[in-house]
Amino acid sequence: MAHGPKSEDEEKIIYVGDSRVRKGAGFITPPDYTAYPGKSEAFIPNFLLKEWMVGVVVLVGILVLTISEPAPLGYPANPSASVIPMPDWYFLFLYQYLKYPYASGDYVLLGVLGVSGVAFGALLLAPFLDTGKERRFYKRPIASSLMILSVLSVFYLTNVAWTHYKHELEASGQKPEHIQREEEAHEKAEQGLPTSNAPGQQQEVAIVEKDDPAMETFKKAGCIGCHAADMKGGPAGPSLRGVGDKHSQEEILTIIKEGYNQMQPQYNNAIAQGVTDEEITHLTEWLAKQKAEQ
Ligand code: HEC
Repeated sequence: MAHGPKSEDEEKIIYVGDSRVRKGAGFITPPDYTAYPGKSEAFIPNFLLKEWMVGVVVLVGILVLTISEPAPLGYPANPSASVIPMPDWYFLFLYQYLKYPYASGDYVLLGVLGVSGVAFGALLLAPFLDTGKERRFYKRPIASSLMILSVLSVFYLTNVAWTHYKHELEASGQKPEHIQREEEAHEKAEQGLPTSNAPGQQQEVAIVEKDDPAMETFKKAGCIGCHAADMKGGPAGPSLRGVGDKHSQEEILTIIKEGYNQMQPQYNNAIAQGVTDEEITHLTEWLAKQKAEQ
């Protein structure tokens, strides 16, 4: 038999994975993608263009959704309400972590930069530190136990933060505004009343003769301090829109001069602000004209 290159039958060939790749002694050079005709494509521009088109479709979809279904505005912030500030639930674990002595106060720099620096640094370096070929998690004890430890501490810290918050709420007798509003809405629903306080649902009373000089008097006399510049009221006083349906001009004058339940007399105060008696009379006439449109 002539010497020459061994035929394939004689040579013991071991194939791994893809049968076109022979098991070699060392590093196996992956075959060029041209070895898979029809199954590969150039990254630039073919693949990138496809990605880009999918991206555009998704973006337009999201835009259409946001335009057709605008995010609802929450209720106005109430500066006089007492609240326990809380982050959203997915940040509770960090919130709790930053309450611990070695992560706050004098050690806040360690807590904020030190620990997160180590954690994120390790994550960045993970491809270089964790070079084992093993893919099964139980054969990678260090990486797996670090991962399980982080997940467990996230659960633990979230739970501690939430339990603590519940205790604080109970101790201070507070009820978060969104829960209170939900309960009120349930009560209204049971009585068959409209439950939504969303704008548009409620009929809004417009200001009658908005450009009347009385509007200036209203500001100058300090009424806006409690009834707001748009007359919608606030925590310190009720809305005065449509007040003419409720009180006559004489009554309003009496309210200003003598006060009204919770409201102190305002007349002297208004005069002290440089408002004249005629202006107040005109203000009361104008307020009496504030009626809801029929
Ligand atoms: C310090 C806050 C405060 C200021 C300033 C104030 N008000 Fe009031 N006002 C109130 C409160 C609170 C009420 C509700 C009183 C109640 O029913 O217990 C009220 C009620 C009223 C009412 C009756 C509303 C209703 O629905 O029955 C009128 C009218 C009124 N105010 C007019 C005025 C005018 C005009 C001025 C400015 C000259 C003024 N208020 C300034 C706090 C204020």
